[in-house]
Amino acid sequence: MIQFNKISKDPPYIIFKDMYKKSLEANQNNIEAICISSFSESKKEVNARYVNLKFINDKEFIFFSNYNSPKSQDFESHNQISGLFFWNSINVQIRMKAYIKKTSQEFNQKYFFDRSVEKNASAISSYQSKQIDSYNQVIENFNRSLKNDDLKKCPEYWGGYSFVPYYFEFWEGHESRINKREAFDMIDGVWKQSFLQP
Ligand SMILES: Cc1cc2nc3c(=O)[nH]c(=O)nc-3n(C[C@H](O)[C@H](O)[C@H](O)COP(=O)(O)O)c2cc1C
Repeated sequence: MIQFNKISKDPPYIIFKDMYKKSLEANQNNIEAICISSFSESKKEVNARYVNLKFINDKEFIFFSNYNSPKSQDFESHNQISGLFFWNSINVQIRMKAYIKKTSQEFNQKYFFDRSVEKNASAISSYQSKQIDSYNQVIENFNRSLKNDDLKKCPEYWGGYSFVPYYFEFWEGHESRINKREAFDMIDGVWKQSFLQP
């Protein structure tokens, strides 16, 4: 589930929330799963992975991750990303483009405090995406953290990322491929709406 906090009343946000509601009512699995694509300037390489979108605060989309992970290194080198939802229960795709930044340490600490100790032990004990000898080692690291670490204190290498899209595209699948595509471009502080051919 995504938590909406005073979501913006701008047209793309109204459409987003309406589609989210319909998808939720249609029992969409993993409704919060968003594919985030990033680019590494040094490697000249694009990469993508799913994360769970936790909040929409006004215009900001927020998820959490490890700040030393490959995705974080990509964001450091190139702060422009794309985000992608596909809600198959209602046959909708939502594409976004945005600039990404870290959330504040206070925000991270508050969110971390409210999470389960198990999730926090997992976050604390993982050097995300680094190679490890075995899966058993992962479990040992997790158990050691569960026993020894302060599981309510957010480590500085873990926290949120926030992005405010400057582009949205809503794709609705229809019969005979007469799909509806509606785009919103933020130009000089104003949303420019258009329809795209399928
Ligand atoms: C549905 C789903 C949700 C996920 N949610 C998160 C998340 O919220 N944060 C996160 O760091 N990784 C999440 N992951 C794992 C990432 O896809 C990825 O494996 C990990 O973040 C390492 O990515 P990186 O090497 O590109 O940094 C999720 C994976 C799936 C399949």
